[in-house]
Amino acid sequence: MYRTHNNGQLRAADINKEVTLAGWVQKTRDKGFMVWVDLRDRYGITQLIFDEERTSKEVIEKATKLGREFVIQVKGTVIERESKNPNMPTGDVEILVSELNILNESLTPPFTIEDETDGGEDLRMKYRYLDIRRKPVRENLIFRSKVAMAVRNYLSKEGFIEVETPYLIKSTPEGARDFVVPSRMNEGQFYALPQSPQTFKQLLMVGGLDKYFQIVKCFRDEDLRADRQPEFTQIDCEMAFVEQEDILNAFEGLTKHLLKEINGVEISEFPRMTYDDAMAKYGNDKPDIRFGMEFCPLTPQGGIFEPKGFGVFDTAELVVAINVEGCAEYSRKQIDALVDYVKRPQIGATGLIWVKYNADGTLKSSIDKFFGEETLKEWAEKCNAKIGDLMLIMAGEKNKTRTQLSALRMHLAEQLGLRKNDEFAPLWVVDFPLLEWDEETNRYHAMHHPFTSPKPGQLELLDTNPGEVKANAYDLVLNGNEIGGGSIRIHDKKTQALMFDYLGFTPEEAKAQFGFLMDAFQYGAPPHGGIAFGLDRLVAILGGQETIRDFIAFPKNNSGRDVMIDAPAPIDEKQLEELHLKVEIKK
Ligand code: AMO
Repeated sequence: MYRTHNNGQLRAADINKEVTLAGWVQKTRDKGFMVWVDLRDRYGITQLIFDEERTSKEVIEKATKLGREFVIQVKGTVIERESKNPNMPTGDVEILVSELNILNESLTPPFTIEDETDGGEDLRMKYRYLDIRRKPVRENLIFRSKVAMAVRNYLSKEGFIEVETPYLIKSTPEGARDFVVPSRMNEGQFYALPQSPQTFKQLLMVGGLDKYFQIVKCFRDEDLRADRQPEFTQIDCEMAFVEQEDILNAFEGLTKHLLKEINGVEISEFPRMTYDDAMAKYGNDKPDIRFGMEFCPLTPQGGIFEPKGFGVFDTAELVVAINVEGCAEYSRKQIDALVDYVKRPQIGATGLIWVKYNADGTLKSSIDKFFGEETLKEWAEKCNAKIGDLMLIMAGEKNKTRTQLSALRMHLAEQLGLRKNDEFAPLWVVDFPLLEWDEETNRYHAMHHPFTSPKPGQLELLDTNPGEVKANAYDLVLNGNEIGGGSIRIHDKKTQALMFDYLGFTPEEAKAQFGFLMDAFQYGAPPHGGIAFGLDRLVAILGGQETIRDFIAFPKNNSGRDVMIDAPAPIDEKQLEELHLKVEIKK
């Protein structure tokens, strides 16, 4: 037997027990006559003591040769520590070692395996298996497992069955590019890895399974960010005979359960907001509602400003402010930093206007030349600004301005410490547009995916006012992150064909790509709908963070590389030939 206990287990009550422990050497302290070793495993750290008077010479000698991360096994007696460490669960005891067995040696690790490490991100990714030995990474993975288990338990209890769907499939359009896999047996043909199991889960509903879920890998070739990985995990769900309300209730139930079980937070009812309201109030379809700073439009309803000679406002489609409470005292330097922030190419604003509501009740702005104090006061009233507040205003084309001000709002919230990671503010965003205009291709695309049904009675609007058609689609937002999205689906062939036609597929293309689904719809497809949560995002947010990489055992870096195994990598000529892919690759 390798061990009788783990390294987080022994307490004062175990004193005098004979035990066998195994683990990694975290650190050693050699005082000549005494050697201490911190022995680590997944469960914790236990201190070992080798003492000239009580341990054999041979064992002490071996102990002095131990290096960091050696794997050892020891036998010994649990004794009371002379100087106790109240910060460690095992801090009352230590093991007086009688036998030491070196199970494996270790090279000196390239970074320290401690909670606070000296290793940079790249180095830690290259040696991820060492990084995983560190408590913060390990705890994140344990946390993820706990969340996944809670999800499985809850959904199973609610009557959902977990079904696996294939990975080698045909393109499922979710708005990203596909990762493709060449077929050796079918020359010139490729599988696509699923961007989601969307079509399969719909077929499971046609198959009568009624309530499906799957914790499943999805693959999307898209630009990466802190909340995006090329392969990520969804909690994918689908239900038959449901309306939007049923889905929202079912998955509000799941989310409430997780918040309670994992975070001990009880939230009675999730607020709902339409997409249009979210855009108008927060400039964003995934607003963080843990704090205010809601948008306050200054442009007259449906009109533009009466020209006052300030070009930026005179021509603007939208002039919109946020009120930053208690920040009227911001210095020139602090305001300049905000201006620089919005002018960064990622945000692309041309400038930022400020209005200060001073302690003496006067109002001062960066555009005093054009707007007198009376107007500033009107604005302050409109925006509910009080003495001591700072209003920040942006102007220009409506959508762009909203996006830019939204970025500033989030930046300020971060700066002012308003995004508290132990506070949870879920929000349903509903009534998404069915279609989204794509500048690049100059046509409409499905905003969610082409299987989403329009709201009842709106199909007719497609020909006259396509941008206005609302979908039976919803997102679940948590603390400013989209953690889930779904819709009620089209379940009849005619409407689905119409939708494909509208999205620019010829009937032949639609048949080639999605004929299997439309065929299935002809055999009694029930009304159905569903949702998919991003498990990585959900776990990160419940864990009080936003970078999903930290909750994935072996993540890819921002260039989509796994630097540990060095992938992607070239394949050899023979393999290329077998796959019918032998082409001249330009170096
Ligand atoms: P959607 O594309 O909205 O919907 O994806 C669902 C959720 O998956 C997460 N997500 C990601 N997480 C990490 N990295 C990524 N690259 C990534 N892309 C998406 C998000 C998102 O809310 N089939 C539909 C669901 C449905 O209609 O039922 C779908 O995939 O949290």
